[in-house]
Amino acid sequence: MSQKIRAGILGTGSYLPEKIVTNKDMEKLVDTNDEWIVTRTGIRERHFAADDEFTSDMATKAAQKALESAGLKPTDLDLIIVATITTDMPTPSTACFVQTKLGAPQAAAFDISAACSGFVYGLTIARAFIESGLYKNILLIGAEKLTTFIDWKDRGTCVLFGDGAGAAIIAPVAEGKHEIISTYMAANGTEADLLKIPGGGCRFPSSLESVENRLHTLKMDGKQIFKIAVKVMSDAVLEAAKRANISLEQISLVIPHQANDRIIQAIGERLGVSPDKLFVNVDKIGNTSAASVGIALDDAVKAGKIKDGQYVAFVAFGAGTTLASSIVKW
Ligand SMILES: CC(C)(COP(=O)(O)OP(=O)(O)OC[C@H]1O[C@@H](n2cnc3c(N)ncnc32)[C@H](O)[C@@H]1OP(=O)(O)O)[C@@H](O)C(=O)NCCC(=O)NCCS
Repeated sequence: MSQKIRAGILGTGSYLPEKIVTNKDMEKLVDTNDEWIVTRTGIRERHFAADDEFTSDMATKAAQKALESAGLKPTDLDLIIVATITTDMPTPSTACFVQTKLGAPQAAAFDISAACSGFVYGLTIARAFIESGLYKNILLIGAEKLTTFIDWKDRGTCVLFGDGAGAAIIAPVAEGKHEIISTYMAANGTEADLLKIPGGGCRFPSSLESVENRLHTLKMDGKQIFKIAVKVMSDAVLEAAKRANISLEQISLVIPHQANDRIIQAIGERLGVSPDKLFVNVDKIGNTSAASVGIALDDAVKAGKIKDGQYVAFVAFGAGTTLASSIVKW
């Protein structure tokens, strides 16, 4: 009988643009203040990409670091998956631009659109390709240039988001060595109106009117999103733990989507997980959507927060609405 192939995380990397924008800087753009932003969200600063720096550029830089940490070359890759809602162009995929910039002509490449859940959706997709034996070395990247799609007249959203990229190499591993033990994905399309960029697709094609009506910028019902996020993200952690056949107590670190520190702490309270087991870097990067969990994972690894043999939970929620979680034994 052939042995089961196990998928795991072989290396991680991340990239944040040079320009740091503090809450004080945001005060110059909209009627807001540091105290409001910090108490409502925990965000203190975020990074903004340069005008000529695209999602594929940030994705490539994060990918180069992930490859280095895995000890692989671009030519070792079989597949490149980019999770993003801020593609360089509607078509071709951002993954194709990354393939060229990285120098990986042999790799297949495609994007996935699952908003803030993109990176964790990608863990399931990459895991399935590895476990099926179809591919050996997969590059998974979450990358966003959200500042292109922000409504700078809407103080309720523009203070929340930032740009960046997080990457991981998913490959066959030995049992329990950085192994992806369980994954879970879900969606609820009835909540699609809560968070969206309405313009630019075939429903509201680009036109003078669509620009005048600011249809190409992000619209959000923050209060509703907040309520749903806390409930479904805590439920998703429980689901991933159940599928991994472990208890919540066995999880050493939860790496949640970094949208808002209050959401993260509320998830901890609902699950009975202490704050020291919740990874938080939203204070420094804001909400980077699909890039968020990938950047957080790389930060947690670099900070020495994950030790060999520990169980780590990933969880994310976003526009769609989409939801995803995973347990990895490090
Ligand atoms: C956006 C969010 C921080 C707003 O917090 P909130 O407590 O719900 O605040 P409200 O929207 O009720 O606004 C309260 C007041 O602050 C004001 N306000 C909104 N944005 C502001 C800002 N940047 N600065 C100052 N005041 C602001 C509002 O106008 C409102 O004023 P009013 O009472 O005079 O009308 C919060 O709802 C949230 O984080 N939601 C989830 C968003 C999210 O995570 N989205 C991504 C999911 S992947």
